[in-house]
Amino acid sequence: MRKTFRNYWVPFCLTAGAVLTTGSSFAQQVTIPVETQHNALVLQTDAEKNLKMVYFGAKLGNTKEYESIQKMYNQSDDSGILNSAYTPSGSANLAEPAITVTHADGNKSLSLAYVSHVVTKVDDDISLLTVTLKDPAYDFEVKLFYKTYFKEDVTEQWSVIKHGEKGIVTLNKFASANLNLKGAGFWLKQYHGNWALEMQPEEAKLTHGIKTIDSKLGTRANLYEPSMFMVSMDKPATEDEGKVLLGALEWSGNFKIDLELDVANNLRVIAGINNAASEYHLKPGEEFTTPALVYTYSDQGKGDASRKLQNWARKYKIVDGEGTRLTLLNNWEATGFDFNEAKLAELLKDTKKLGVDMFLLDDGWFGNKYPRNDDHAGLGDWQENKQKLPNGISSLVKEAQANGVKFGIWIEPEMVNPKSELYTKHPDWVIKQPNRPEKYFRNQLELDLANPKVQDFVFGVVDDLFTKNPDLAYIKWDCNAVIYNAYSAYLKKDQSHLYIDYVRGLYKVLERVRAKYPKVPLMLCSGGGGRVDYGALKYFTEFWPSDNTDPLERIFIQWEYSYFYPAITSSNHVTDWGKQPLKFRTEVAMMGKLGFDIVISKLSADDQAYLHEALKNYNSLKDVIWHGNQYRLQSPWDNDAASIMYVSEAKSTGVVFNYLVNNRYGTGTHVPVRLKGLDPNKKYQVKEINLYPGAKSSLENNLTLTGDFLMTVGVNPHVNSNRTSVVLQIDEVK
Ligand code: GLA
Repeated sequence: MRKTFRNYWVPFCLTAGAVLTTGSSFAQQVTIPVETQHNALVLQTDAEKNLKMVYFGAKLGNTKEYESIQKMYNQSDDSGILNSAYTPSGSANLAEPAITVTHADGNKSLSLAYVSHVVTKVDDDISLLTVTLKDPAYDFEVKLFYKTYFKEDVTEQWSVIKHGEKGIVTLNKFASANLNLKGAGFWLKQYHGNWALEMQPEEAKLTHGIKTIDSKLGTRANLYEPSMFMVSMDKPATEDEGKVLLGALEWSGNFKIDLELDVANNLRVIAGINNAASEYHLKPGEEFTTPALVYTYSDQGKGDASRKLQNWARKYKIVDGEGTRLTLLNNWEATGFDFNEAKLAELLKDTKKLGVDMFLLDDGWFGNKYPRNDDHAGLGDWQENKQKLPNGISSLVKEAQANGVKFGIWIEPEMVNPKSELYTKHPDWVIKQPNRPEKYFRNQLELDLANPKVQDFVFGVVDDLFTKNPDLAYIKWDCNAVIYNAYSAYLKKDQSHLYIDYVRGLYKVLERVRAKYPKVPLMLCSGGGGRVDYGALKYFTEFWPSDNTDPLERIFIQWEYSYFYPAITSSNHVTDWGKQPLKFRTEVAMMGKLGFDIVISKLSADDQAYLHEALKNYNSLKDVIWHGNQYRLQSPWDNDAASIMYVSEAKSTGVVFNYLVNNRYGTGTHVPVRLKGLDPNKKYQVKEINLYPGAKSSLENNLTLTGDFLMTVGVNPHVNSNRTSVVLQIDEVK
C-alpha cells in the first residue's frame, strides 16, 4: 500500500549567495526541482528516505506540481528501487547500481538515505546543488552534485564518496550520475570508430536490458567508442524536432555508460569511470571525487541541444572559448620526420606568404642518441636533434618572428619509446608488466603518470620549452598509444588504481601547466580524435578530430563532432588527403579552426590566388564561425549535398557552407536549401564568396531576400559536379 507523507517542497533557485540546508528525521517527502531556463530534473525522497529522480524534461509552469509527478506512475518498488537518483547495491535495490562497495568489515551491502541538501548560487547563471546521502548502518556518505548553467540549459553532475569506517573501504563501482528518464521508447545515438574513422554514428531503439558504451583502453579512451551519446525520448529526435538528451563524460580515461531499460520501461543512464580492473581503496576520511557527466536536454531536437552544449563549452569549459585562435601552417603531411633547418626556413617563409598566423613544427625534432627519424625511437628524449636543428628551437622561434609569424611545436610527453635514453634511465617510470613481454602500440609505451616524479617530468617537458622559448606560441599535445599490460611500479599493492590515477596524474600536470601558462593555446591530439572529452578540453583551446583530413570524410566527422563540440575547438587542416580540389578542402577546413599542411610553393598561381581570397574571407567570418550559432541545414548522410550554417548572435551575418557528397550522375542541390537562425523580419544580401579564379557565381548579383523567405523557401547554392563546394555569405541589409 502506498503511504502518504507531508510534502516538503524546496525551491532550487535562490538568490545569489544564498544557501539552504534541509533535512529532518521525520518522514517528510522532500522535492528538489533542479531547474534551468527551459528544463527541470526533479529529485524526491520516498517513505524510506531513498532519493529518487522522478522527472527529467521540460520545466513545468507551476513548480509546486513537481510534487505530483511521481503519483501519476503506478510503479511498485517490490522489484527493487526503480528510479533511485544514485542506486546503491546489495540492499533493497536489484537494478544496475551506480555504486558498489565493500565495507571495511567485508560486507558488500550499501543503502543510501537522504540527509540534507544545500543550494549555493554561484552567480546569476550558475547554481550548485549538493545532496547528502548516508548509509544508516555504516559511516559511509555520498554527496551528489548538480551544477546547473541556467541560461545554457546545461547540468554537470558528479558525486563525492567518503567514509569514516575503521579501515579501508573498497569502491567497486562509482558512477558520476544515474539519470532516470521516462518516455514511450528511447533511441540511443552512439559513436564508434578507429584511427582515421572517428565518430561513426549508429542510432537504434533501446530494448530491455543493458546497453553499455565503454572503454578499457586507458589512454586515448575514445578511440573505439567515445563517451558522447544522445538519447531521444518518445520517438527518434530529428535536427529540429523531438525530445533529446545529449551527454558526455568529462573524463579522459576508461569510462562506462550503462543504459538500462528497466521493468517499468524507465531508462536508467548510469555513467562514470569504468570500474573494470579499477577497484579503488578508500582510506577513512579520504574523498573520492568522480568526474562530471555533462548533459543538456531539448524538446526541439538535436540541433537545439547541440547549440546549448556548444554555448556552454565556449562560455565555461574550454580555455579561451570566447577568444581567438591562431591559423597555421603545419609540416607533418608535407615533410613527415624528414626536415632540417633549411627546409623549415622555407616553410617559415611559406607561412608568411600564405598569410596565416603561425608555423607548427610537428613530430621528429628531438632525440640524439636515438634520433626521432621515424616512429620507432626517441620519444621521451625532448632535446633538439643536433643534426636536424643544430641551432635549436630558440633559433626557429626567432626566425619565425623575423618572418612575422609565430612558432608552435608538437610534443607527446606522456610517452616513451623503448629506444630512448629516458627508457634506459627510468625503466620504473614506464607502464609495463614486470614479468610479461612488452606490447607496443605505435612502438611506444606510456609513462606512469600515477607517479609524482613522472608528473614532474611531463610538466618539465612543457615548462622547459616555454622557459627556454618564452615566445613559443602553441603546443600540439599528442597521445598515440593505449595502455597494454597495465602495471605501475609506483602503485605497488594498489594496482587497481592505475587507470584512474593515470588520468588524475595527467590532470595534475595540466593544472600546473595552466597555472603557469593560463592562456597559451594547446591542441589536444591523440593520433586523431582518440582523446576528446571535456575533462581534457578544460585545459585545451582546441582538438584534432582525426588524422583523416580527406575533406569528404571530414564533412561527416566534423558534422558528428559538432553535436558536442563547438567549431572553435575543431582544428581542421587542409592537406593532400582525398581527391577534392583545393577549394573544397579549404572550405571544409574553414568550418572550425583553419590550418594548412600542404606545400605552398607547389601550388598553382590560381590556387594561391584562391587561398589569398579564402583567407581574407575566413578572417572576416571567423568570428561568426567560432562564436556564432551553428545550424545543420542538410545532412551529408541523407542528401547529395551537405549544408552547414553559422549565424552571428545578432543574426546580422551568416555563412553557409555547401558540399557535394555524392558523385553519382546528376546529383546536386535541385531545390533550395532552407536557412535557419535568421531574423524573419530582416533583409539579407546573399552573396557567393570564395570563387575560384575565373569562376562566376551562379547566384544573381545583389540577391536580397528577407529572413522569412530564406528560412521558408530557401536559397539554392547550385551545388553540382562542376560546383562541388559553394560558400554563401549572408549579410543584413539595413
Ligand atoms: C599523430 C598525430 C599527427 C601527427 C603524428 C606525428 O598521428 O595525430 O597529426 O602529429 O602523430 O607522429
